[in-house]
Amino acid sequence: MTMLKINDNEITIPKALDEASADDLFCKNMLEGLRSNPKHLQSKYFYDAAGDSIFREIMNCEEYYPFNCELEIFSENTAALARAIMVPGGAFDLIELGAGDCTKSSYLLSHLVQTGADFTYMPIDISANIIDYLNLQLPVTIPGIRITGLNGEYFDMLEKAAEVSENRKVVLFLGSNLGNMEPANAEQFCRELRGHLKPGDLALIGIDLKKCPYTVLAAYNDKEGITRRFNLNLLERMNRELEADFEVAKFDHFPVYDPETGACKSYLISMADQVITLNTKEGKQAISFAKGEAVFMEISQKYTAQQVNQLGKQASFETAESFFDSRGWFMDTVWLAI
Ligand SMILES: C[S@@+](CC[C@H](N)C(=O)[O-])C[C@H]1O[C@@H](n2cnc3c(N)ncnc32)[C@H](O)[C@@H]1O
Repeated sequence: MTMLKINDNEITIPKALDEASADDLFCKNMLEGLRSNPKHLQSKYFYDAAGDSIFREIMNCEEYYPFNCELEIFSENTAALARAIMVPGGAFDLIELGAGDCTKSSYLLSHLVQTGADFTYMPIDISANIIDYLNLQLPVTIPGIRITGLNGEYFDMLEKAAEVSENRKVVLFLGSNLGNMEPANAEQFCRELRGHLKPGDLALIGIDLKKCPYTVLAAYNDKEGITRRFNLNLLERMNRELEADFEVAKFDHFPVYDPETGACKSYLISMADQVITLNTKEGKQAISFAKGEAVFMEISQKYTAQQVNQLGKQASFETAESFFDSRGWFMDTVWLAI
C-alpha cells in the first residue's frame, strides 16, 4: 500500500498487485504462453530491473531510431507541445502510460514546471523498479515537480489516477508503445483509453511510422546484439524468478518485418530439441521445444499518419495537432476526447 497526499487529502493507494500475486501472474502467463501452440510470451514482462537497464542501452544504440526521432520532437518542439496540452487551461494531471525513465517527457515536464503550469505528473509503469526510480529521482532533476508514481497495469492505474483527482487529464503514451499491440488490440486499447477520459481530456500518442523496411528491421536487429539480449533476458528472468533452467545459448533472436502490413515481429528460435522445466506452486512443469521452433515475443507495428488518425477517430478522439521529426519517421499526435 502507498500513502499519498494530494490537494491536502491523504489517500491510500494499493499497488495494482501485491508482490505475491504479481509473481503468480507472471508464472501463470509464462506457463500459458509456453504451453500454447504456437508458443508466445508477453513482452510487457521484458521489463524487470535487468530489462529496464538493457532497454536504456537500446535507446542509445545507433540503429534504434524511434527513440532519437521522438527525442528530437520533444526537445525541439517543447513549447509547442506544452501549448497543445495546456488548452483549455486550468489544473491538470499529466499521466504517462509506460513512462520508462521518461527521458523524452522530462523536456516537457521541465518546461511546464519552469512556466508555472498547475499540474501533477503521474507516471504509470508495470516496472516497480522504474516507479521507485522516478519517485526519487524526478524531484531532484526537476525541482518543484509534483509527482505521484503508480506501479501497475495501464488501465488499473488510470482508474486509480481518476480516484485520487478530478482534474482534467492529459495522457502521454510515447515510445510507440501502442505499436506493441496487434492492430485489433490497439483499436480496442484506444477505445478503452477513451472510456477512462472525459470530453475535453487529451491524449498525446507517440507512434513509429512506416518507412524503409531495412531501417525498420535494423532497429530490432542491431549489430551489437542489444535487442537480442533484451529478448533473451525474459528467459533469464524465468531462470531467476521461476527457477527455470533455460540454456539461453540454445535460443536465438529472429526479427522479421512485413512492409505490406507494417508488422515487425520478434521471435526466439529454439536451436535444439530440448526440454526445460520451471517451478510453480503446483511443482515442476516441463516444456518441450523442437529444433527450429519459434516463440513469438513482441510486435512493433508501424502505421501511416492516416491510419493513426483513423485509430483515434474510431475511438471518439479528434486529432488536434501532430508533430513530426525532421525525417518524418515518427509522429506525436494530440487527440482530443470528444
Ligand atoms: C518501450 S518502453 C517505453 C518507455 C518510454 N515511454 C519511452 O518512450 O522511452 C515501455 C515501458 O512501458 C512499460 N509497460 C509495458 N507494458 C505495460 C503495461 N501493460 N502496463 C504498464 N506499464 C507497461 C514498461 O515497463 C516500460 O517501462
